[in-house]
Amino acid sequence: MIPYLDLNSINKRYQGQFAEAFEKFMERGQMILGDSLSGFEKDYAQYCGTQYCIGVGNGLDALRLIFEGYKIHGKLKDGDKVLICAHSYVATVLAVKQAGLVPVLLEVDPKTFNFDLDALNAVNDPDIKALLPTHLYGDVSPMEAIWVLAQERGWLVIEDAAQAHGAVGVHGKRAGNLAHAAAFSFYPTKNLGALGDGGAVTTNDPELAQCIAYLRNYGSGQKYYNKYSGFNSRLDELQAAFLAIKLKDLDRDNARRIAIAQRYHDQVHNPKIVLPRPNFDGSHVYHLFVAQCEDREKLKAHLATAGIGTSIHYPVPPHRQEGLSELSHFEFPKTERLHETVLSLPMSPVMTDQEVDRVIQALNSFEL
Ligand SMILES: Cc1ncc(COP(=O)(O)O)c(C=O)c1O
Repeated sequence: MIPYLDLNSINKRYQGQFAEAFEKFMERGQMILGDSLSGFEKDYAQYCGTQYCIGVGNGLDALRLIFEGYKIHGKLKDGDKVLICAHSYVATVLAVKQAGLVPVLLEVDPKTFNFDLDALNAVNDPDIKALLPTHLYGDVSPMEAIWVLAQERGWLVIEDAAQAHGAVGVHGKRAGNLAHAAAFSFYPTKNLGALGDGGAVTTNDPELAQCIAYLRNYGSGQKYYNKYSGFNSRLDELQAAFLAIKLKDLDRDNARRIAIAQRYHDQVHNPKIVLPRPNFDGSHVYHLFVAQCEDREKLKAHLATAGIGTSIHYPVPPHRQEGLSELSHFEFPKTERLHETVLSLPMSPVMTDQEVDRVIQALNSFEL
């Protein structure tokens, strides 16, 4: 069996180092907001090329705390609108909503899985104050075009970089350093994944960074003194220590993902299967390798019979989710079609060449 994602094998590589980190953790006795967190924050800021990194509880909170920080600084207010691509994970929409802002969805370009730039350029609503591009599947959003437009309209730009650790965007800058602020998730399946929940905000804005450092800790910079009405969302010491270990190999792991993606591209020749556009220059770190097929269920079943696991990202778009009925008036035929055809193929840094061969053979032998 080739699993869709073998998390155990990914983490087993670090078992010895994790055990040492745990020993240190027990000796030190710092559970929350200690040296492991500040060490990882320094390392991750340096890796992304930003001045600041603030570790938080998860990616959803990272997004939400950015918006809350901007509200405190008067750059956003309740009811302001935020533009999001309709084809994203539901957390992108939930963060906007939870921060008291209004998500405005835009149709996807099915070739890039990102904003349709014509639709984006045509937006003309003075209540829109921010743009939240998702680097979906690990592919950096078209930041140059986004930035030009945002400057023209005076929008804040916040990256949802939850799936794009290490991806390199315009001018050689990494995801996390391509906008006013960025949110990362360290959910275990991510390219940089913890052994539980985790997240971070990166930014070069000192005021926002300090505000979020307080907000994640009940709004407090000094114990029992609360400058803001805050939250409890701190990246814990153990997860920070594990992430610091894994960060050292992130570039190597991403390079392996890109090499696998390139093999899929070079060797899958099946007209029934649409592969994502080729992009091997480091601006796509293949968190997911998402193909499309008119009869997805049949392809999924064919691969399962060949012992190959797959997944779907995502079966239902945010505006068709039961829990987001306020968005049900939106109609996005391209986005909705994508959700019926996308299929995520096995992709991980621990896949062997033989496993990649087997996936390629099975894809090539698929007939509708
Ligand atoms: C694009 C995107 N944004 C936000 C999140 C939220 O991250 P978390 O699950 O850590 O809250 C995720 C996580 O899966 C994601 O994929």
